[in-house]
Amino acid sequence: MEAGDDRKLVSNWPNVQFVPESYVHPPEKRPGKLVVQPCKTIPVVDFEGHDQTQIIQHIVKATEEFGFFQIINHGVSKKLMDDAMGVFKEFHGMSWKDKTSQRSKDPNKSCRFYTSSEKYTTEEAHVWRDALTHPCHPFEEYMQFWPAKPTRYRKVVGEYVQELRKLGDQILELLCQGLGLSTSYFSRGLVENPVLLVNHYPPCPDPSLTLGLVKHRDPSLITILLQEEINGLQVFKDGEWIGVDPLPHAFVVNGGYVLQMITNGKLKGAEHRAVTNSSVSRTSAAFFIYPSKDSIIEPAQALINACNPPQYRSMKFEDFQKNFLARSGNAEAVMQFISSMHD
Ligand code: OGA
Ligand code: NI
Repeated sequence: MEAGDDRKLVSNWPNVQFVPESYVHPPEKRPGKLVVQPCKTIPVVDFEGHDQTQIIQHIVKATEEFGFFQIINHGVSKKLMDDAMGVFKEFHGMSWKDKTSQRSKDPNKSCRFYTSSEKYTTEEAHVWRDALTHPCHPFEEYMQFWPAKPTRYRKVVGEYVQELRKLGDQILELLCQGLGLSTSYFSRGLVENPVLLVNHYPPCPDPSLTLGLVKHRDPSLITILLQEEINGLQVFKDGEWIGVDPLPHAFVVNGGYVLQMITNGKLKGAEHRAVTNSSVSRTSAAFFIYPSKDSIIEPAQALINACNPPQYRSMKFEDFQKNFLARSGNAEAVMQFISSMHD
């Protein structure tokens, strides 16, 4: 977002009475009716309640079937989760001047604050969201570019992202065991570049016309989401939208394109979106586990054989990311690009 565009921030519109035309999505993409079937909800995995073998089976099955699961009793302290959510909400609650003055001073613009998507000028319709994003590792290196306001931001988020890296390693190790990959498969480069994205969805006068985030798959290996106890996240499964019921102090985990490519399609990057509501604002923080730029992403040798030929090409993560952005995350175009049939 350029200076001067700041007043476009959706969180800056006091008492907005209607959804502006540029935020109205085509009818087939609007939230519509949610199919509410009590048995249809994403699996909940209790990291303390079962033995390791059961947990592995549970998360592999959940990722195969839904691409999503929630974890409870994951070991990250409730206080730290509350503190992190507290500073995220505080950040988005600041004046537009304070928020926009926190943009990165570094030449790579690693810490960004924007409204709607990063493709504001070319997107089909805007989404009802403001976003803050920054890299997390090594945090000693990047912290200087994170917001200096709220004053607790760097300390709290520094601790939070270190805990999330550990949780991410733990989840990936369990997935490796379930898939028959060496437990260190996702060490080093493949998990080296985690990025935090703090979404803020202000109340919307007519949630039926617009979206908080359009249907997408994350370009990550996995994503670990912290959300408030407010509905908004939906998962697309078998042609239907399923709402994710927020559980207190749970994390929502989903696979992304990179996991899909490495597992040769055994585990899928699930499609999801966020909807708005008319009464309260909702904040969420996605911790995307990304490989380093130079990492090669390709189907794991252990998962390909004569019956399972590679479905995806081998490429540097940097090339995947560039192409993902150039295609605005469009599922069909991205699939075509990563497919082994691509010429
Ligand atoms: C995302 C995302 C969901 C949410 O940031 O990629 O899917 O509920 N967020 O905010
Ligand atoms: Ni997402």
